[in-house]
Amino acid sequence: MSTDKPNAIIVIFGATGDLSKRKLFPSIYRLYKNGKIGEEFAVVGLARRPWTNDVFRENVRNSIEQSSSKEEDLEDFSSHFYYHSFDVTDTSSYDDLNNLLEDLEGHYQTDGNRIFYLAMAPEYFGSIANQLEENGLKNGKGWTRLVIEKPFGHDLDSAKELNNQIRHAFDEDQIYRIDHYLGKEMVQNIEVIRFANGIFEHLWNNRFISNIQITSSEKLGVEERARYYDHSGATRDMVQNHMLQMVALLAMEPPIKLTPEEIRSEKVKVLRALRLVDPEKVNEFFVRGQYGSSNSIKGYREEATDLANSTTETFVAGKVMIDNYRWAGVPFYIRTGKKMKEKSTKIVVEFNDIPMNLYYKNETEKHPNLLIINIQPNEGITLYLNAKKAGIGSIAEPIKLSYTNNGVDDINTPEAYEKLLYDCIIGDTTNFTHWDEVAHSWEFVDSLLDAWAAVTPDFPNYPAGSMGPEAADDLLEKDGFHWWPITD
Ligand code: BG6
Repeated sequence: MSTDKPNAIIVIFGATGDLSKRKLFPSIYRLYKNGKIGEEFAVVGLARRPWTNDVFRENVRNSIEQSSSKEEDLEDFSSHFYYHSFDVTDTSSYDDLNNLLEDLEGHYQTDGNRIFYLAMAPEYFGSIANQLEENGLKNGKGWTRLVIEKPFGHDLDSAKELNNQIRHAFDEDQIYRIDHYLGKEMVQNIEVIRFANGIFEHLWNNRFISNIQITSSEKLGVEERARYYDHSGATRDMVQNHMLQMVALLAMEPPIKLTPEEIRSEKVKVLRALRLVDPEKVNEFFVRGQYGSSNSIKGYREEATDLANSTTETFVAGKVMIDNYRWAGVPFYIRTGKKMKEKSTKIVVEFNDIPMNLYYKNETEKHPNLLIINIQPNEGITLYLNAKKAGIGSIAEPIKLSYTNNGVDDINTPEAYEKLLYDCIIGDTTNFTHWDEVAHSWEFVDSLLDAWAAVTPDFPNYPAGSMGPEAADDLLEKDGFHWWPITD
């Protein structure tokens, strides 16, 4: 018997890790509490530690309590969680897991639907996918889906290799590659703001937009993740996925239908049109940085002994060009980094100013119309217009029209992971990255990293707590622009 709510068993590889604790357990709880999933679900946590169900459930309850205020129903909720000590390299572990899943399928009405969520070190992704296939875990009565966290490869070649391994066992439509930015409310809103508003969409091209700026700045450093991060750097960590996904959503053509295939095909066209980085011109288009100590905040190289001579970039800014009819000549400036001044993700669309503005105070002053999409911490949009300064005269001053989700009653926007998990349970792949997107993004990022690899950077080059190296400002200045502030 199935219920009207989606039902499945979620198997989490890496259930004792940080992601499970901070994001996955609280998200599953919110889906439960908000009635998106009913009683017919179970979560099986896998990791090496020899935990019992009781210890696991206590951890689940603690993680939920830490992520929100006092919660109810935690006992009932956590009774759906089972722990299984697991060695990903040992075939017998998979047999035992299959038996456990069959038992649970007898207990909960999950119709044999199984989600395998890989929230662990990427070196095991390929072999786990294959072991699941070889040991018959994909042969349940219902559907099977594989959710994969990043990083998806280290460059195009390794991503291809990983993809081939996974595709050996799973079809593309069973693979859900997570990019958690695609679960953010305002990232999902980019498409609606663009395509549901004539006043924007008709102007959304190189005739009316002078440049687009995307900033995702973080105050935190690398915390406990130095080992991963030093091998990755800001370009692989943020640009290959989140930043280029936002570029694709901002630049894509309207889809002919709101299906995952149609939307993806428009995004892929943008990623195919990205101008690859010419090694001769890399400094004209990109700036890399690493934070140094400042005002008692440690520099990156002082965060751990292994980092003492690191040349890994903790900041990247760049001018991304999209060589297609709509965007020829319009720079998409991107900027992201650790230990910056603020935690903020924001998109600024700067429209061309009118040719002769009689209403500015003087000739050098300019305040073009801006559409700002605030992704976090505030969620909303702001439109900057010019209007007459109150009083005598006809001088224009910028005024802003703002909409923020925070101000709307009863809106408590779901966390990205909550939405993505739900999409996976209902089989909606729209907000997951298809292999074609991953491949084109890597191709672009590889062209940049290869160009950089030829020269040893002079790091550190920006103080912790700042907005990055000065060269990131020069990047825009030489085009006659500047970064708009990230705080309103
Ligand atoms: C992750 C990166 O993908 O995104 C982290 O690995 C980064 O380094 C994080 O901190 C930023 O996500 P958010 O949602 O806090 O902007």
